[in-house]
Amino acid sequence: MASISDPCSLSSLAKCVTKHLNLTYHVDFDSHIIKGKVALTIEVLEDHFSSFTLDTRDLKIFSVTANGQEAKFTMGPKHRFKGTPLEITIPFDLSRGQHAIMEVCYETSPNSSALQWLSPEQTAGRKSPYLFSQCQPHHCRSMVPCQDSPSVKHTYYAQISVPNELVAVMSALREGQEPDPQGSSRIIYRFRQPVPMPSYLIAIAVGALESREIGPRSRVWSEKELVDKAAFEFSETETMLKTAEDLAGPYVWGHYDILVLPPSFPYGGMENPCLTFATPTLLAGDRSLSNVIAHEISHSWTGNLVTNKTWEHFWLNEGHTVYLERMIGRCMVSEQFRQFKAMGGWKDLQDSVNTFGANNPLTNLVPSLHEVDPEDAFSSVPYEKGFALLYHLEQLMGGPEVFMGFVKSYIQLFSHSSVTTEEWKNYLFTYFKDKADILNKVDWNAWIHTPGMPPVQPQYDTTLADACIALCQRWVQAKEGDLGGFKEADLRTFSSHQLIEFLSLLLQEEPLPLSNVQKMQEVYKLNAYMNAEIRFRWLRLCVRSKWDDMVPMALKMATDQGRMKFTRPLFRDVYNFDTYRDEAVRVFLAHRSAMHCVTAGLVAKDLKLDSNQSTVL
Ligand code: BES
Ligand code: ZN
Repeated sequence: MASISDPCSLSSLAKCVTKHLNLTYHVDFDSHIIKGKVALTIEVLEDHFSSFTLDTRDLKIFSVTANGQEAKFTMGPKHRFKGTPLEITIPFDLSRGQHAIMEVCYETSPNSSALQWLSPEQTAGRKSPYLFSQCQPHHCRSMVPCQDSPSVKHTYYAQISVPNELVAVMSALREGQEPDPQGSSRIIYRFRQPVPMPSYLIAIAVGALESREIGPRSRVWSEKELVDKAAFEFSETETMLKTAEDLAGPYVWGHYDILVLPPSFPYGGMENPCLTFATPTLLAGDRSLSNVIAHEISHSWTGNLVTNKTWEHFWLNEGHTVYLERMIGRCMVSEQFRQFKAMGGWKDLQDSVNTFGANNPLTNLVPSLHEVDPEDAFSSVPYEKGFALLYHLEQLMGGPEVFMGFVKSYIQLFSHSSVTTEEWKNYLFTYFKDKADILNKVDWNAWIHTPGMPPVQPQYDTTLADACIALCQRWVQAKEGDLGGFKEADLRTFSSHQLIEFLSLLLQEEPLPLSNVQKMQEVYKLNAYMNAEIRFRWLRLCVRSKWDDMVPMALKMATDQGRMKFTRPLFRDVYNFDTYRDEAVRVFLAHRSAMHCVTAGLVAKDLKLDSNQSTVL
């Protein structure tokens, strides 16, 4: 039997498993507290079972019962990122195979790391407050006492009481609503998730939400100010779902809705089942950033059906999901487009390896997370080293169709379970048993357990990248006094994907002379671009070339939205522009209280501030 341990959870994983979770929530916007009750249905895995431990973080526990009888509980010592173990002793013994219902009454802290409470001024409508959660990787424990490990899967049911001018949505099927009998002017929303899923996929949002239908099984949700724009941006959703089903098998989650969050949402997208959470920075107006939706849709199979057993195997979630996302791009656009995106991904991998350092063990495909906060380990490595390995195997095994056969079969076999890299690899060898000689030649240790870039660099078709590479080289080689050859027309045939690639290529070079980026603004008018992926790279380029005038714009983008992929590098680049180091710190401290706490914590580390420091060094 596989050993049961998770370096990121303090809960008893060998003694029992949670099968179902029944949540009753009262959301209080005045105190920024959720008063909650959770009933966990657990299955016992051992004889003489009478005590067990759940994960919590910053929760106030009021009472615990087991099958309705009062149970004793104590809180263990608080761990830096794992939180506080809730140790429960029940007043009877259970045997292997038995089930019991453990009920915990508790409330969350206003500082819950899973939750962000927004004031009306932080929303598009500026009239109502807003609450959203982000549980991945290990924050569910700060909103529900639970076995907060991706190795455990359960169904859930929830009843959420909120002020009746607001709407609650969750990562589940909507079951209806009714007035809250306990309080006038409140309403209860009910939800059911009938497919077993890990705790990190529990999600909730409450706000002045509206929705519009965008497909037979899909709606888009957001504040009313954004809902039309979002419906346009994500209109390809049903085509993507059908394409993904052709590739990976039936979509088992019933509905696929998208919620567009306020700008502080820390990720591009989050694959919460039945309801992807998305950053408003995807609303480019031309559907050009819809690959993020293809990515989150793909997680419906890789991640949500087949789940990494611990965060050390995170690449199984993200590497396969990037692989599927690019397969959807292949089907909906072209193979050349897939190759182009794959090349861009290799560059993202290089950037991550450079940022972490090529000897940093966190650049291993499977890093050790013993006493490592998974938030600190996050990077493009699991995404792009994972993709590169799968693409390399695709080429060795006979091409995209052949390798998709394996991916589909892997999904079927491991659906509704959680897997390790070892299990994945064993199945790869089983599926391709006729090609064992080729698989045995792969340098597995270099790919999986060695830091830095992979041992093999895949060759990609450069058709769509050639124009980007050529224009990048012209700018790199242009001498300061000789910039007359650049014309607005240089970009005429560029898609926004190619413009992004051109800017990414420039970011990998030594900073351009200031006169070159100023000339670039003069001819290409890049300041006017509102596409977040373009604007982000352009502002970084300017700050790295030490263009003073652009610093305020870079800091504005870093704080107007809070997607970590943008906010962290923008703050870091301004910090590294010595003249503006103090300004970066000052702006961060001024905005900190309005930022998502995870983003604020990581930016503080990036800017070398103590986690609680409130003044400039
Ligand atoms: N599941 C991730 C987001 C995540 C990862 C949240 C780790 C918390 C911890 C999501 O699917 C994701 O990868 N989003 C990317 C999309 C991109 C790779 C297309 C993002 O946010 O940019
Ligand atoms: Zn992902």
